[in-house]
Amino acid sequence: MAAIFDWAGVVNYAKRYQVTVPKTQYELPGVTQEVHLGVPVAVPPIWHAVVTAKLAFAPERAALKRAQQRLDGALTELEDIFPLVPAGLLTQVAYGMSYFERFVGHELTDKHMPKATMYEDKTPARWAIIDSIKYPKDPPNLVLEQNDICFHFKSDFKEHIDEAINALFYPGDRLLNGIPVQQTYVGDLFVLTSIRRGFVGRSMPRKMATFHRIPGYDKIPEGAMLFMGFTSSHVHGLAAGCLPSFETVPGYTDAKPNSYFANGCMMHLSHIVMDLDLWYRFSYKERLHRMFNPRRTEAEGTLSPSQAPDTTTYEPDLEQDAANRKVVGHNAQMQFISRVDKDVTTVYGEKVPKGTVVFLRQDFDTIENPFEFSHDTPIDPVPKAGVHFVGMAPSAQFFEKMRLQMDSVELQQKYHLADEDVGFTKMLVTTHRQNYMLPPRSHRCMPLAELL
Ligand code: HEM
Repeated sequence: MAAIFDWAGVVNYAKRYQVTVPKTQYELPGVTQEVHLGVPVAVPPIWHAVVTAKLAFAPERAALKRAQQRLDGALTELEDIFPLVPAGLLTQVAYGMSYFERFVGHELTDKHMPKATMYEDKTPARWAIIDSIKYPKDPPNLVLEQNDICFHFKSDFKEHIDEAINALFYPGDRLLNGIPVQQTYVGDLFVLTSIRRGFVGRSMPRKMATFHRIPGYDKIPEGAMLFMGFTSSHVHGLAAGCLPSFETVPGYTDAKPNSYFANGCMMHLSHIVMDLDLWYRFSYKERLHRMFNPRRTEAEGTLSPSQAPDTTTYEPDLEQDAANRKVVGHNAQMQFISRVDKDVTTVYGEKVPKGTVVFLRQDFDTIENPFEFSHDTPIDPVPKAGVHFVGMAPSAQFFEKMRLQMDSVELQQKYHLADEDVGFTKMLVTTHRQNYMLPPRSHRCMPLAELL
């Protein structure tokens, strides 16, 4: 007798897309690369949205376990319809410290949370995810957020994101791509605290700024991927593979490849307003020096200067820039932390040469002021240029150390640098920030709930 044929699985549209599903949430299948004057550049999905929320149910074991199953069903259904590539939809789910403290509890979290080993301070075995601090140049009214959960959706097609947000969070027609779905609605599990939208690439910054008449719009270079003109997705400026994970490069945390949170990392989310008018009062050369370093000599108009390992600025060069040229560049301020300062071998046996970056940025521009929706921050309808900064690092301590360099308070005092000569911090105002745990894909739904 012939075997029973699997009719349900016969028409498999997923086969159109050759996707190797990554273990991490931050690796993005299907993202292509371009070469700009010999320099490799990653082309991220155009459209982005971040949705933050509090969990709407009481912190009880059974409720959390149920929520875990429902979220898993919802994301599985979403990925059944939209393939895991920019032409479909890429979804990341991250968790704030309040999730672990209120819902999982200290004991179980402590057992599995990677501990930072990077710094010798008075509190050994400090969790590798801790709440964000306020940085020295943050404004007094900066909001340190306390969301339980954060979703980041990316796609080349805005409608895919809109449909996913509607289907996940709002009751009503349960259709994705016109197809009826059963499990996607999980809106009753969450009280939304914000929706933040934006874009990157494809000349979008100039197009959007022109459309909304944002001061400085006419100075944004044609083809620029971000408002400030320069490319921020250089292949050599973004951590490759699973480098930002807790366990990958030895020395940042005590996580091992078999740890619960292996293939996860710390994620920082902030919203930054930028003064494009002020920025574009600088000449091209002055902008090049403030973005990269004052030793750069690229031809006028170059938007993607090489970021190869041999261009890395280490501390002695940074000091020399400050002492002799009286200007320090944004990426040079941080590269001695964001990149490895010697050849290393990862726990997975990969050789990583000196000057390789282990920090990953997935930020995008916005014209929201500050968000599309917020439960507690007033929304100003006048559009403003801004960035939703999303960064992935092996620990919050790593991020903190690096981000402090962006303000460079000590260096500025030591060498009497003017505010406008410390990278581009003078042009930025951060309004919101929060640190999150970005778990591995296998634990993206209510991590640790199954162990309660
Ligand atoms: C308006 C906001 C920002 C803009 C426009 C911006 C832009 C850029 C650009 C153009 C580069 C160099 C290109 C590349 O490496 O791909 C860069 C590098 C970098 N940015 Fe930013 N950035 C912003 C905010 C931030 C923030 C908030 C951080 C947080 C710490 C950050 C951390 C870094 C680091 C560490 C590098 C160097 C990576 C490396 O090459 O090792 N940036 N950024």
